[in-house]
Amino acid sequence: MKSLSVSAYAKINLTLDVLGKRADGYHDLCMVMQSVSLADTVTITQTDGTGLSLRCGAAFLPSADKNIATIAANAFAAHTGVSLDGLQIQLQKRIPVCAGTAGGSSDGAAVLRGLNEWFQTGLSLPALAKIGESVGSDVPYCVLGGTALAQGRGERLTPLAPLPDCCIVLCKPGFSISTPELFRKLDESRLRYRPDNAGICRALEQGSLQDVCRRMFNVFEQVLPASRKLEIEEIKGFMLECGALGACMTGTGPTVFGVFTNEADAQRACDSLRATRPDTYLTTNIR
Ligand code: C5P
Repeated sequence: MKSLSVSAYAKINLTLDVLGKRADGYHDLCMVMQSVSLADTVTITQTDGTGLSLRCGAAFLPSADKNIATIAANAFAAHTGVSLDGLQIQLQKRIPVCAGTAGGSSDGAAVLRGLNEWFQTGLSLPALAKIGESVGSDVPYCVLGGTALAQGRGERLTPLAPLPDCCIVLCKPGFSISTPELFRKLDESRLRYRPDNAGICRALEQGSLQDVCRRMFNVFEQVLPASRKLEIEEIKGFMLECGALGACMTGTGPTVFGVFTNEADAQRACDSLRATRPDTYLTTNIR
């Protein structure tokens, strides 16, 4: 095999609850995650060179040794004993960076899945997800994908009934939010509202997109700086005006997503939002 390509799907949080800070500095979470069709492509190639090399068109990504794709590859090699000598990993980025859509984590997960296939190591998805725990909190979920409840740091995963098929518009405003800083703000706040995770799991089981959308909720929206919150609310409001069944911020933001049953409505929302916010995408759920 000369070259192997794997899709690395973005994720959204249908819900996100933070239960408390742990002794190790991380937080216990409870969240429903969903894969969407916006994806990077991770390509593994054998070269004549030595060592592992990383190629990526985007200049603003972390350098090779700090990139999550390299970290994932090294974790895979440490676990399986394979040699990465002469391998090249190429990232074709489409998922916006620092957006709450697991752009980095999904690349890391795709590297784990890709290397498992490349070396025919035969590890199960849960075994790959376990390796992913040391790479990043969202990596285990990204290895599994689909619709899942994630608990603990994000590594305790329960597959859920799939989200009914729909269109999902992603819109990333032109600012970024520091994840550790938002967690810190949350530690200092008393949360007034929390998502109904049991309710959204039931709604998924019943296959009711409407009931799922009614329960989409992200606790981080309560601790956003005022001006940022205003813009998030504006995008959510616009998506609802366009016919979205629900709209919410994903992860620690700033990307907002809206769930639509009608593709023409979704396309209209996407086109209008893209005029002022270029990182806007029309996607679908991935099962
Ligand atoms: O694991 P990862 O590097 O993706 O996490 C980024 C940052 O997000 C951590 O350094 C931590 O500040 C915060 N985090 C957390 N609890 C989690 C996941 C992430 O506090 N469960």
